[in-house]
Amino acid sequence: MTGLHESVFSWITPRLRQLPWRDTRDPWLVLVSEVMLQQTGVQRVLPKWEAFVAEFPHPRECARAPLGDVLRLWQGLGYPRRARNLHEAAKSIVSAHDGLVPSTQEGLLGLPGVGPYTARAVLAFAFEADAAVVDTNIARVLARHHGRTLKAREAQLLADAWVPSGEAWLWNQALMDLGATVCRPRPACDECPVASSCAWRGEGDDPSVGSAGVSVAQPRFEGSDRQARGRLMKALSELPVSVAAVSLVMDRAPDVANRLVDDLTRDGLIVRDGDELRLP
Ligand code: ADE
Repeated sequence: MTGLHESVFSWITPRLRQLPWRDTRDPWLVLVSEVMLQQTGVQRVLPKWEAFVAEFPHPRECARAPLGDVLRLWQGLGYPRRARNLHEAAKSIVSAHDGLVPSTQEGLLGLPGVGPYTARAVLAFAFEADAAVVDTNIARVLARHHGRTLKAREAQLLADAWVPSGEAWLWNQALMDLGATVCRPRPACDECPVASSCAWRGEGDDPSVGSAGVSVAQPRFEGSDRQARGRLMKALSELPVSVAAVSLVMDRAPDVANRLVDDLTRDGLIVRDGDELRLP
C-alpha cells in the first residue's frame, strides 16, 4: 500500500455507492451484473438485475429456461445478444462446470460472451482475486492520472500494477466510483483524493479522449436500427407478431424492417413460426 492507495481508500470508505451486486460474492450474481453493466448504465440495470436474479438465482434455473424467458427479463437493457450469450454461459456452467462459475481466468474466458473485461471483473468482485478491471470509468482515471492517451495493453498493465495486493475488490470498486462521481468526463478535480499525484489535473488537452476503453458518445438512438429492433423485441416479449405487421411495429419501411428481422433471426433472437414471429 502506498500513499495513493491510502488516499483512495479513505476517500471511498464513507462514499462507496450502495449497489446490490456489491453486497454479494456469488459469482453467478456478479457475472449477471457485469454482463448487464457492459453496455447499460447503473440506474437502468438496478431493477433488471433484481428481477433477473430473483428468477434465476442460480445458473441452473437460467439454463433450464427457454431463451425467450431470458430475453423477456432483458427487455429494456438493449443489446439482447448479451442475454443470449449469458443463457449459453449458464448452460455451459451447468454442463461443463458442475453448476459452478469458473474461478480462473481461463475457465471464465471459455464462457460465451465473457471477454477479458468480464473475466477480470468476476475474479475481482466475486473471488476477490488480485485482478485489475478496466471499464470506461477506470480507463478515464488511468489515462488522466498518468497524463497520457493509452493503448489497451498499456492501460491494462498500468491498472495491474496499481492493484494493492489483497485489496482488489475495494480498489476496483473505488476507482469505478471515482470515475463515475469525480473524474467524470467533466471532472471535479477539487474533490479528487489523488489530484496531488495526477499528471493532468484538468489542465490542457484531456488525455482520456481517445484513450483505450474510454467510451465515446453513443450513436443517435432516435431513428436507429437499434431502436427499431428494440421495438420488435419489446412487442415480442408480450405476444407473437405477424410477419405482415413488422413494418408497422418497428415504424420502419418494409425493406428495412425485413432486413432487421433477418438479422435478429440469424442471431437466434427471434424465430419464425409460419407467418408469425415469436421469441425463441
Ligand atoms: N460497472 C461495471 N461494474 C460495476 C460495478 N461493480 N459497480 C458499478 N458500476 C459498474
